[in-house]
Amino acid sequence: MPEGTATPEANDAVRTHVWRGVTGPFDVVVEPGVFVPSSTSKVLAEALRVEPGEIVVDAGCGCGVLSLVAARLGAAKVIGTDFSAAAVHCSTNNAARLELSDRVEFRVGHLLEPVEGVRANVIIADVSGIPDAVAQVTGWFPDGKGGGRTGAELPVEMLARVADYLAPGGRIYLPTGTIQDDQAILDAAHAVFGAAMEPVAKKEFPLPDVVATSADVRELIDEGAIHLAQRGSRLSWELTIWCCTLQ
Ligand SMILES: C[S@@+](CC[C@H](N)C(=O)[O-])C[C@H]1O[C@@H](n2cnc3c(N)ncnc32)[C@H](O)[C@@H]1O
Repeated sequence: MPEGTATPEANDAVRTHVWRGVTGPFDVVVEPGVFVPSSTSKVLAEALRVEPGEIVVDAGCGCGVLSLVAARLGAAKVIGTDFSAAAVHCSTNNAARLELSDRVEFRVGHLLEPVEGVRANVIIADVSGIPDAVAQVTGWFPDGKGGGRTGAELPVEMLARVADYLAPGGRIYLPTGTIQDDQAILDAAHAVFGAAMEPVAKKEFPLPDVVATSADVRELIDEGAIHLAQRGSRLSWELTIWCCTLQ
């Protein structure tokens, strides 16, 4: 899930991002083409609980920031995955810079495929999940790709197999937003976790004008896939972080 408050610049140069969220402040270097940590990253980190000794998988790791947070919260082992080789390269360097390479590693690949055989206590399930049309107009994603037409397609694909990667009693931290087809994602999560799904954080963000005026986004609103709230003269969307536990 993306930045909520403003359209960040395209990330086409190496930049240092000061992480001021949970376990920060610390610096991460964001290499060209890699997702810059967002307001969603920050809210998710605040909701994240990791017990000392737990194994954590961070799906869609970007520059690795949430993996680093998990390690600093006490995880025994963290494996981040991303289909972007640039993201994995960048994350690996950030872990080394923070002297966490003994507990944190990153692997390139689709969704959870790079961690076949791993049974995690915690999965951070933050793969791209906004509609492609939103990704294209905002520049939130360096490659201009979201999570499919409605933003739900990629998270739903991940959820279909997530139980195969969880230890008994394991949990996932799943962001959903009213800027995507969140009902489709929640239906897929319910199929795996039943009623063991708890909203652990919520935050509302103003919708950038560039999204509000997009014809493709209007089509998604009209068909009921995304649902925005009117706040005075502006539209806003709401982020929820779910903690879902395998029964
Ligand atoms: C919203 S960003 C989150 C990044 C990071 N968690 C953060 O908070 O900064 C989503 C990430 O998912 C990655 N991604 C997109 N499609 C993927 C796929 N099929 N498999 C694995 N990762 C994917 C993107 O490259 C991007 O880094």
